[in-house]
Amino acid sequence: MRNMILIGFMGVGKGTVARTYAKLFDAYAIDTDDLIESLENRKIKKIFAESGEAYFRDLEKKTAQWLETSVQNAVISTGGGFYKQPNLKKIGTVVLLDSTFDAILERILSHPNAKRKLAKRPLFADRKKAEALYNTREPAYKAVADIVIDVENKDPETIARELHTLIGAKE
Ligand code: S3P
Repeated sequence: MRNMILIGFMGVGKGTVARTYAKLFDAYAIDTDDLIESLENRKIKKIFAESGEAYFRDLEKKTAQWLETSVQNAVISTGGGFYKQPNLKKIGTVVLLDSTFDAILERILSHPNAKRKLAKRPLFADRKKAEALYNTREPAYKAVADIVIDVENKDPETIARELHTLIGAKE
């Protein structure tokens, strides 16, 4: 299996879909934010607060290089800004999990841990700024994606199965 790399906006469910896919189809799920946190032994929120966004983006670059050279047969979920990595397509097949901003917000706010989910995402601190970021990123996500899946109103298993079918059709 070629790596699959899930991109999309904060809170769209990339990690959940990656883990669901992995369990259903016997693959490893890994997450770029988790890799960065383990590399730094600090939470993303802390990295942003103590070292700034540019430093975090450098860590994303380093992680992208490591993924390209060292990871195979995995489903990789990414932070919402990871799609900018120039070697993205060398890492694997790029899959956009697509949703409207309102549905993403609704998904986060309806979660039992909504407060924690918002608190760990510095770029979601200001709702209006997050929406503006969504609007600029949406076309850029679409431009880089090999596959686009509309995830609105679908449960993770439905999305994972749809993804499996689409990947099968592509290979
Ligand atoms: C970011 C998204 C976050 C995390 C960081 C920056 C972004 O990941 O990488 O806070 O630039 O959109 P999630 O997409 O998992 O929230």
